Amino acid sequence: MTTSIDTGHVTAKIDALGDYLTRVGVLPADEAATRIWRTGLHHVPRHLFVPTRAWAEPMDDRPEHEIDRDRDPAGWLEAIYTNTAIITQRGDGTADVADTHAAPTSSLSCPYVAAEFLRLLDVEEHHRILEIGTGTGWTAAMLAWHTSDDQVVTVEIDSAIAAQAQHNLAAAGFSPTVITADGTLGHPEQGPYDRVHVTCGVREIPYAWVEQTRPGGLIAAPYMVGRYGEQLALYVLDDGTAIGRFNGGATFMMMRNQRPARPTSTTSDGHTTTGRLNPRTIPSDYRRGFGLYLSGCVPDLILTGAGWEQFSDTEWGWLLRLRTLDATSWAIAAASAGDAEITQGGPRHLWDELQTAYMDWIRRGRPGPDRLGMTVTEAGQLLWLDAPGNYV
Ligand SMILES: C[S@@+](CC[C@H](N)C(=O)[O-])C[C@H]1O[C@@H](n2cnc3c(N)ncnc32)[C@H](O)[C@@H]1O
Repeated sequence: MTTSIDTGHVTAKIDALGDYLTRVGVLPADEAATRIWRTGLHHVPRHLFVPTRAWAEPMDDRPEHEIDRDRDPAGWLEAIYTNTAIITQRGDGTADVADTHAAPTSSLSCPYVAAEFLRLLDVEEHHRILEIGTGTGWTAAMLAWHTSDDQVVTVEIDSAIAAQAQHNLAAAGFSPTVITADGTLGHPEQGPYDRVHVTCGVREIPYAWVEQTRPGGLIAAPYMVGRYGEQLALYVLDDGTAIGRFNGGATFMMMRNQRPARPTSTTSDGHTTTGRLNPRTIPSDYRRGFGLYLSGCVPDLILTGAGWEQFSDTEWGWLLRLRTLDATSWAIAAASAGDAEITQGGPRHLWDELQTAYMDWIRRGRPGPDRLGMTVTEAGQLLWLDAPGNYV
């Protein structure tokens, strides 16, 4: 059964969404570029990119819920045209979209974040654009609407998602090039590009993206440090390096091949000591710039948990959990009224590495994300403080 949607109703919803994005400052009324994107919202209706059943994650305090166009067309439309991420796949396609035990693996990004990135990209009509992570195809359609179909290439790793995106794009009247491949490699055949728009989270910028971007061009990506991310805008120079800064929060689902490895078991060979640094100070500073700073100092360290955990009916404790991306080293810091209890396992002493970076971050004036930047070369990426070259 396909429920018909009242187009007059949709127009009103799109206007309301545009008003919201203007009111919250993502698409300010006085900028020519944002007027373009507001018009684009009408030409690329989001509901044409959402399957009948999906999972809505509102960005405000409304609860997450399933949406079903056949059962509740008004609720389905409401979710799509408010600031809500629409999850369209879980468990890389192995789980039902409403099975919240499985991780979300594809979505239509929420309008706030999508609009922030479109604005950050600073697209001009003549630009050639590479998108990494096609998802539903909506962003690719917005880019194709602003430029043209033959100036946009979008790469999606999941063949079922790519096929559905192609179908959605055709239904909305767009035909950018959709490639089913690993976006890490970019798509050199149709480059060089003026803009590379990455719509899945990355911790490492593949050098292929820099190579495939024109000097003066821009790569915009969500740089993820653990569970939250920052918008990274990298400008490509004529010597083959890319350099840029962070522009505010952006949490995305990780690129498939950059997901941290799953630990095989809770390692039991830990060594326990005590320490004076209270682990409870770390999570709030993590978002104030320490997370980014740490990712520059110890690139393969991730926080995997922070909060109260129950050990028995009567025993609770506040724990900070960290490990390496490859899950070979780990640490658990337990907060207490006196000294913290630190247990570390594997070949590295991760808590010690975190503590060294934290003291260094404090010594350098607790720099926030706005003071940090990144340089990418063929040899890899380095984070710097205040000015390129002043590496952390
Ligand atoms: C948040 S969704 C993208 C949203 C999309 N731009 C839209 O407008 O709907 C992220 C997408 O990145 C894809 N992805 C993950 N890893 C990838 C990779 N290595 N190469 C290309 N696509 C990838 C996922 O399958 C998922 O569809």
